[in-house]
Amino acid sequence: IQWYPGHMAKSKKEIISNLKLVDVLYEVVDARIPVSSRNPDIDDIAKNKKRLILLNKADLADDEVTSLWIQYFKQKGIAAVKINSITGMGIKEIMDTTKQVCKEILDKKQQKGMMPRLRVMIVGVPNVGKSTLINKLIGSKRAKTGDKPGVTRALHWIKTPNFDLLDTPGILWPKFDDEKVGVMLALTGAIKDEILDIEELAIQLIEILKKYYANYLMSRYKIDKIIEDNFEILKEIGRKRSCLISGGEVDTLKASQILIEEFRSGKLGRISLERP
Ligand code: GTP
Repeated sequence: IQWYPGHMAKSKKEIISNLKLVDVLYEVVDARIPVSSRNPDIDDIAKNKKRLILLNKADLADDEVTSLWIQYFKQKGIAAVKINSITGMGIKEIMDTTKQVCKEILDKKQQKGMMPRLRVMIVGVPNVGKSTLINKLIGSKRAKTGDKPGVTRALHWIKTPNFDLLDTPGILWPKFDDEKVGVMLALTGAIKDEILDIEELAIQLIEILKKYYANYLMSRYKIDKIIEDNFEILKEIGRKRSCLISGGEVDTLKASQILIEEFRSGKLGRISLERP
């Protein structure tokens, strides 16, 4: 998605107006990068709304770090649940937590003689898995992936066994003025890598891996010891994977692509790039 200020304003306006129609907001983030995959304005936009943060793609993230994030958001007064939208892991916990968070609303509806059903909207930045989650919640393919932001559509409500869900997610923009955010989004595949230098991305990934996941790095690429120079580590990965160009030099571009692909697909292990 190409974001322009006009898009952002329109998307924000749309979300604010839809927010009035729902009881609770599900903010989907990528569990591997819960800071970089959040929208800078959402805390403000959702200030007066019941909300759950859904740490999606938890299957790819480091479980211990994900627990720290759940604690972190809890301390901020926001309930967070780890999920895997593909398998449906965590969906029951979403339901249970929603009932707790919205207890007052549900009680009030019941007192008024209304059906104690909640209305829910899903929001998040591109690629965090909003559409996959919607499809899982409703049990059929409904939400389109890759929708354009800020394009107003007719509202549709989908009845799930537990609540009514707005069928189109709110697409939010990330904090792209922060360079580190750009790196995190590119590493997780949320933005196209053509925008950033792939070798630079690999070097940044190696820096994080060295600090927290040196054992994964060593065992996957049969590296004996972790050295200071990240570019040398990248070259060693290239050698181990036979990424060589004529003259026996290492093809560091190829090595970078392999490393990043193996991180993204989880082959390298369950890795969190950000921690509280
Ligand atoms: P936009 O339409 O760009 O806003 O993206 P989205 O937020 O709707 O994300 P989408 O559902 O299209 O998912 C993006 C990619 O992440 C897809 O390749 C999904 O298969 C993958 N994905 C979604 N949820 C999970 C998850 O829990 N685990 C893993 N491993 N992959 C996931």
